[in-house]
Amino acid sequence: KNLIVAFGGVSPEHEVSVLTAIQAISALEDSSYNCIPLYVTKSGRWLTGEKLLDLSNFKDLPTLEEDSVSCAFVKDETGKTHLKEQDGGGIFSKPKSYPVYAVLCAFHGSEGENGAFQGVCEMMNVPYSGSGVLGSSLGMNKVKAKLVAAANGIPVTKAVNFYETDWEKEQDDIITIAEGYDYPLIVKPVSLGSSIGVAIANSRSELIDAVETAFRYDEHLLIEEAVNPLMEINCSVMGTPDDCRPSVCEKPLGQTETLSFEDKYQSGDGADKGMASADRVIPADISDELTKKIQNLATKTFSALDASGLARLDFLVNANTEEVYFNEINTIPGSFSFYLWDKSGLNFTQLLNELIEIGLK
Ligand code: DAL
Ligand code: MG
Repeated sequence: KNLIVAFGGVSPEHEVSVLTAIQAISALEDSSYNCIPLYVTKSGRWLTGEKLLDLSNFKDLPTLEEDSVSCAFVKDETGKTHLKEQDGGGIFSKPKSYPVYAVLCAFHGSEGENGAFQGVCEMMNVPYSGSGVLGSSLGMNKVKAKLVAAANGIPVTKAVNFYETDWEKEQDDIITIAEGYDYPLIVKPVSLGSSIGVAIANSRSELIDAVETAFRYDEHLLIEEAVNPLMEINCSVMGTPDDCRPSVCEKPLGQTETLSFEDKYQSGDGADKGMASADRVIPADISDELTKKIQNLATKTFSALDASGLARLDFLVNANTEEVYFNEINTIPGSFSFYLWDKSGLNFTQLLNELIEIGLK
């Protein structure tokens, strides 16, 4: 059973995706799957080969690319899809071709998580893990995700969204709307993950700076009202829109300021890499009542956004009033949120097996 583990990609979360994929491959070592890497380089080339199974080889990307082989999804005469090498290991060796049993999507961000790659899998008729085209694209767009959530009665924070062209023409109007929510305000790119480009503004000048910085990452931005005092609580959900269950909740710490990309991914060690470093409480030290409330909102939002397989939903909680707001969904969460399921009675290997099985249905 060839399981194509697809990862990397042109997104700024490339490195995080490499960590997630390599962690998953090692968790599947003794499983019934034969993991075949499909690594998408930062420039978008599709590569496969043994060297891609070892994290240490990613320190030297040019050499890794040279030692790997271009590949593509190709249908044979019977309609079966293969991951096919485009060139072999020299003129005497035949390019290898792997009939695809299923694809494990281990991308974070951009085309790997926003439905584009999922669409390729649909066209090639191969089963794949995680959300489908609609759930993936809704999940990637923070404006549309909030709209659909709100339409389903799920509380979200107030926000104004605008494109770079709007900002050029109507900066004053946008600032007036945002200041109506009061400082501090949160500036976010609409379609990026891992807190990239996210900033907190405490004044008008910080707001303008934050907006201008965020435009480097995305042409579509959000300015959101802040929850104050803030407690972040995350919860993972597994299943299908009509039949899903929540994990335990986690409380990431040190969130008086929003976690930066470095805090999240470059400070952890070993098994802890690829997820918000060790500063987290699992299960979150909150009341049973609040836990249940968040778990219910998590499954409800997962369904409303047409997510499938596995996702991590991030909530903002007012630490005084315990009001809960849906913040965002990660349809391919870092490290597949294994650390939340581990504490919910499902180890990483079992989690991946279930995720793949949902994709096969
Ligand atoms: N987008 C990253 C990987 C996460 O939030 O889990
Ligand atoms: Mg995210």
